[in-house]
Amino acid sequence: MNVQSILIKEPGNFNQENLRQLFDLAEHNLPSLLKYANQIRKEQVGDEVHLRGIIEFSNYCSCHCLYCGLRAENRKISRYRLTNQEIFQSVQTAVNYGLKTIVLQSGEDRFYQPEDIARLIEFIKKHFDVAITLSVGEHPHQSYQIWRNAGADRYLLKHETADPILYQKLRPGKNLQDRIECLLDLKDLGYQIGSGNMVGLPGQTLTSLIDDVLLMKKLNVEMAGIGPFLPHPDTPLVGSSAGSLTETLKILAITRIILPTIHLPATTAISTVNDDARRLALESGANVIMPNFTPLTVRDQYVIYPQKIDIIEDPEQSVNKLKKLLKEMNRTISMSYGHAVKIKTYSLTKKEVYHGFGSQ
Ligand code: 5AD
Ligand code: SF4
Repeated sequence: MNVQSILIKEPGNFNQENLRQLFDLAEHNLPSLLKYANQIRKEQVGDEVHLRGIIEFSNYCSCHCLYCGLRAENRKISRYRLTNQEIFQSVQTAVNYGLKTIVLQSGEDRFYQPEDIARLIEFIKKHFDVAITLSVGEHPHQSYQIWRNAGADRYLLKHETADPILYQKLRPGKNLQDRIECLLDLKDLGYQIGSGNMVGLPGQTLTSLIDDVLLMKKLNVEMAGIGPFLPHPDTPLVGSSAGSLTETLKILAITRIILPTIHLPATTAISTVNDDARRLALESGANVIMPNFTPLTVRDQYVIYPQKIDIIEDPEQSVNKLKKLLKEMNRTISMSYGHAVKIKTYSLTKKEVYHGFGSQ
């Protein structure tokens, strides 16, 4: 059985069973699945690679995620908040390199009032010709509204895992339903939304990995950040094994096949695995890269997971390396904002989305 015959059976109507068949296919013939995903990527979103400049403006976080180095309990990192001046400088650097999207990322830092972030967005939008993606965690509808009014275009909020029980274990005090609620709120407000998951989390099953893809399909997300779980030494998951590159490429490829026009980054977590991983991701469905523009002075304090390759690379090094790689691969750098290829045209009710995911 090949990919087409699996999908043609029930086009557009994916379920656990036909996704399981895709996973089986990947077990037996991974290269053919990756190749097919690459072909879909080429047909649907072309050879352009979109660069999103990420600025990690605060590493304070009030959350307790068992997997993350920024968790509130980790006293081994020094916490920082960039000044507005430092943020603008980083945006300027990214713009000088031709980037058209800025991703403002932080932990869930309760220090900021919604208006502080809104002013930041307004200032950037006024002075630079860029799209803005926010990635600052779970917040009330009202805050999302204020930031959208201020000019934010997109929001990245990974669902992390579609298994509600595992989710609660890994994110104490949080639940999957609230996360999904935030994503639906964001969608209602007109943001292009990005979700995504980690691959190889301790306790993760094949069923839950399939649910990850199905959830993103149900939400019809415009972006998906998918990366391997990498155990951080200063977290409770220190002794766990890391997610594998092969498994991550598999999920990436299946996501491209199921959501053909999605923006899929070759995430930093993937690139961390080995020198060739970024290229492999770009050949398995990925069409986005997120170079880091956080000032080098604090870069080593934003350690979500160990061995981030971009910790030591300045923007010039990383952009040049990237250009070389893309040239070798006959891929081009996009000059556009890289908005969603197809903005969502239908909406599921919350009940439909929750069914099978949010219910405890
Ligand atoms: N390994 C891989 N990814 C991680 N993240 C957090 N901790 C880890 C880890 N140990 C990812 C989560 C989060 C994003 C900021 O980083 O998916 O959403
Ligand atoms: Fe905070 Fe995000 Fe890390 Fe969780 S994953 S501890 S919310 S920065």
